[in-house]
Amino acid sequence: MREFTLSSRYLLFPVRTGAPKSRLSLWVDGRAVREFDLELAAADPEFEVFLDVLDFAGKRTELRSADGSDPGLAAVRQADALPDAAPYGESLRPQFHFTSRRGWLNDPNGLVYADGLWHLYYQHNPYGWNWGNMHWGHAVSEDLVCWRELGIALYPQAYGDWAYSGSGFVLPDGRLGIAYTSTGRGECVAFSDDGGRSFAEIPENPVLRHRGRDPKVFWHEPTGHWVMAVYDEFEDQRWIAIHTSPDLRAWTFASRIGGFYECPELFPIADDAGRERWILYGADGEYLVGGFDGREFRPESGKQRLWFGEFYASQTYTNAPDGRRVQIGWGRGIVFPGMPFNQQMGIACELTLVDGRLRAQPVPELARLRGPYRNWRAGERPDGVIAELVEVTTTLSVPAGARGGLMVRGVPVVWNRIDGTIEVADGVFPLALDAAELDLRILVDRGSVEVFAADGRLAVAKAVRPDFANRQLAGVGEARFGETFAYELGSIW
Ligand code: FRU
Repeated sequence: MREFTLSSRYLLFPVRTGAPKSRLSLWVDGRAVREFDLELAAADPEFEVFLDVLDFAGKRTELRSADGSDPGLAAVRQADALPDAAPYGESLRPQFHFTSRRGWLNDPNGLVYADGLWHLYYQHNPYGWNWGNMHWGHAVSEDLVCWRELGIALYPQAYGDWAYSGSGFVLPDGRLGIAYTSTGRGECVAFSDDGGRSFAEIPENPVLRHRGRDPKVFWHEPTGHWVMAVYDEFEDQRWIAIHTSPDLRAWTFASRIGGFYECPELFPIADDAGRERWILYGADGEYLVGGFDGREFRPESGKQRLWFGEFYASQTYTNAPDGRRVQIGWGRGIVFPGMPFNQQMGIACELTLVDGRLRAQPVPELARLRGPYRNWRAGERPDGVIAELVEVTTTLSVPAGARGGLMVRGVPVVWNRIDGTIEVADGVFPLALDAAELDLRILVDRGSVEVFAADGRLAVAKAVRPDFANRQLAGVGEARFGETFAYELGSIW
């Protein structure tokens, strides 16, 4: 145990991934105000993580380790600034994907647009490189491209009562609200009085107790009630349950639909005839198109798939302007060894519904990152030196029964018309396309390559770390090329 006065903004903890976990607690006024697991490095730390203690400024505190004798405690220090000389400047730091400055992230949470800001909350372990200690991290953007990380928006109420995934919405009075799973209590609702930086629980919490998690809550205008689509393990099966509420406090069960696992998403989208359809999916993104009357989802299609690769637990924005349907997924498995952070969010995408199927394209705002470019005329083979961070667009013609495409900084992106697939790095993804031409959009960052093909009919996120020194673009196989562009992309940080 260490006792001292909190005289600075932050407590910095030295971490070494793989060190034994200490259960640490910070005591103020006789109670544990923060408690979490941390791989505390008594010596030879890999990096420091931080805890914002502004709320307790000037207070006496006790820092305790559950096992009573942690030699690492002596190395915890106070500081008014974060330790990075160049924030977000590490060698493997993605330059146009959101990552948190420190620690682990997984599911995007609470995606909501309000007052000119796109809020991105996320499952977050602020104190380590691996999953654990689930908090809600928070970042905001004015353009879905550049993100500004704010402080923790939701702390667990107690050790072991973790703040799992959930959703965000705008209340009738304009404040932001969230619904999330407290692992110790059930589905909970909380409101913000400070523009989404922090949330206060409503007294009725938990508003729902069941076996399940990950509430998606939105206002359903036609019926004038709130809807919650939530993952539900009723009778040991996997369902999405629908509940309704007049006031977010009292909820009534309405229906359930089987065959979906965690992180449900349910939203309306206009089809190509301008007719409103509804999309339902779980964490793997396999979706149904159907109708929704405010209580029950009625499928009008079989399950279909848009995304492949490292893409999980995606959400779409509630309250987005101009009828936009913007989606962000977690790039699950995009790892950053040796870095003080781990995992990234996918690029923000705009969804459309065409011929009964979803399509995804990076939001048009992404074009703001484009800098100098090289291009090759239609019919030319695009061979040459390109930038490290790059967006490549082209159209391929590949004869039936052949394969061809591009090598982008050593990463193959190939249309295989023998098997009807697209190959991206070491991944192979189905593309049933009855056409001799294929348009491609390829985004290359430090930890991933994303590919949008056939007007967004197929979207792939692949974990791959292109060799930093390799700046080569080259045509491969039996492809002919339409006009090709390679844009250098700027950094969002
Ligand atoms: C999906 C998930 C959610 C859960 C969260 C916990 O990745 O398992 O079901 O709420 O992650 O971090």
